Parts: sequence; structure tokens; C-alpha cells
Amino acid sequence: MLTDDFGREVTGVRVSLTDRCNFDCVYCHNEGLGDTRGPMDPQDDEMSTDDVVRFLEVAAEFDVDAVKFTGGEPMLRQDLEEIIERTPDSMEVSLTTNGTFLPGRAPDLVDAGLERVNVSQDALDPQDFAEITKSGAYEKVLEGVEAALEAGLDPVKLNMVVFEHTAGYVPEMVDHVAENDGLRLQLIEYMPELTGKPEWNIDIQRVHDWLAEQADEIEHREMHDRKRYWVGGTSDDDGGMVEIVDPVENPTFCANCHRVRVTHEGYLKGCLNRNDDLKSMGEMSKPEIREAFREVVENRVPYYGEYMIQNGDGEWELNDEYLEVEPPAD
Ligand code: 5AD
Repeated sequence: MLTDDFGREVTGVRVSLTDRCNFDCVYCHNEGLGDTRGPMDPQDDEMSTDDVVRFLEVAAEFDVDAVKFTGGEPMLRQDLEEIIERTPDSMEVSLTTNGTFLPGRAPDLVDAGLERVNVSQDALDPQDFAEITKSGAYEKVLEGVEAALEAGLDPVKLNMVVFEHTAGYVPEMVDHVAENDGLRLQLIEYMPELTGKPEWNIDIQRVHDWLAEQADEIEHREMHDRKRYWVGGTSDDDGGMVEIVDPVENPTFCANCHRVRVTHEGYLKGCLNRNDDLKSMGEMSKPEIREAFREVVENRVPYYGEYMIQNGDGEWELNDEYLEVEPPAD
């Protein structure tokens, strides 16, 4: 197990398999790279199947026990089943998807070893949904969620980004998971850092307060300082589970980050919010990847609370200590 200078063990990796997507969500930060969305055709710069597997084998050697595949839309990769099949057995495999390709493919993914899925669903009304995602595939997403449940990927987590456009739909989404078995809701605080639209921010504390009023039970999970709200019933009585993911300006969140990322082009990435710490695995052999992985973990720094600190006025500023840092060589 590798641990960084801040005592954070790296137990998970999040691997972006492509930056292509059949949606164009207005809030998308594209896994921290900003707006790089390109054409839909397969790209030369994407990691090959072998590249992905080679990296995962190295990560498994370091006792990383979970991988989440993401995109863009990872199901645009036709080799996703093969990648999952070849993922080391010691790793739990999950997927974040927009859900549109799950009908028809969910059983194959499960056969290959997929254990959990997050489906992005930001609204319950086709028109609202189309406005946010710039796509009319709402029905396909619902079918996708259904297909995932049928294939045994129960519970399915619905990801909803809470920002100006969606804040009003939170109550109906909460009802939706309370009323339907097998669904959980993950309310994700909008991250304005990488989208250039700070004006879409909402105060996530208001969502916490509102949910606390609605909940029949609140579970406090000490390890991550995260709360789980059970609505329309309790944890052992048919309730729906709602979680809030609130990373923005949250040092506790960063202190509990145990994840290294890989971009679709095969760069190791120590922090979602930073692009000055990328390290290419390009043509590397396994021993070189081992070394690169070690180095990225060594250089990991909690973003809020260390890389960024609050000044006397409560504003977040770059910590002086990191001003002089040379960008890492490839
Ligand atoms: N803020 C918060 N979450 C985001 N996601 C993408 N962009 C943003 C953003 N600006 C999340 C969504 C999606 C997942 C792939 O990334 O939850 O489901």
C-alpha cells in the first residue's frame, strides 16, 4: 500500500477511458481537464486495452483494491468488457456512465466482472433532462437504469449534480429513490473550479439542512465524515438512501481522498483540481509505471487545506509553499 506525505493511503484508482461522450452536459468538467471534448470517433490518443490493463496490474501490486472506469462516456469503448475481464481479480470494478448504452450490454459487463454502476441522472423530466445534457436520450437512460438492476447491479447509484439548473429537482429525485427499490441518490455539489461558470453555484449546506428535515434516519459514517440520509423509511425499513458529495472548499473531503486518477491519454493525475501534476505513462514498461505511480503518490497534496489555504478574509489562496514548485517532467 502506498501512502502519501499526508497519511493518505491510495486504495482506489479512477480511470478515464475516453473523453468522447454522446452527451454534452452543461456542467461537465471532463474529469478535471476542462472543456476538451472532441469528435466522437475513436481517438489515437486514448489508452489501448493493453495500456489500461498494464496500469491496473501495477496498481494491484500496490494493493489498490478498487477501480472506477469513467469518461467521457466509458461505454463508447467497445473493449470495455475486455478491460473489465482483464482487470486483476483483487479489484472491485465500478463504472460511471450516462446509462444510454446499458440496455443490451449490462449483462455482458456483469459477466465480465462489473460490480457497481453510477448512472448520471440530473432530472426526472425529459425536457429538463434535455436542457442539462443537450441530449434527448432520457428514455434510454431510464431503460439503462432498469437494465442495470435486471443484470444484478443492485443498488444503482444515481448521480445528480446540484447547481442552479437542477436544485429545484432535488425533492422529486429524493422521492424517486425513496419510492423505487434498488436506487440510491448521490447529490454531487457542483464544482465550479474547472467549468468557468461560478455563477451556477448553490449553497450545498441548504441541501444538507433540507435533507436532514426530510430524513427518517441519518447515519454518520465516521471514516469519511459523510452522512447518509434515509428517506421514506429507515435503513432497515425500505427507506431510500441519499448521500451528498461536497468536495468544494472542503478540507475534510480532501483529507479523506484515497484515489489516484488516470486520464484517457494515460497520464497519472494526483488531484482532480490540478493539471500541473500530470505524469504520462506513454510508452512505459511495467517497472517504469511502478516508479511513476510511486512518484505521483509521493507528490500528492490535499487540495483544500494544504495546496489551497484560507486567508484572513476567508478566501482560498494558493499556499506560498507551492508557488515555486517546478512542473514535473514527463
Ligand atoms: N461538478 C460536479 N460533478 C461533476 N461531474 C461532472 N462535472 C461535474 C461538475 N462540474 C460528475 C457528474 C457525473 C460524473 C461523471 O462527474 O456526477 O455523473
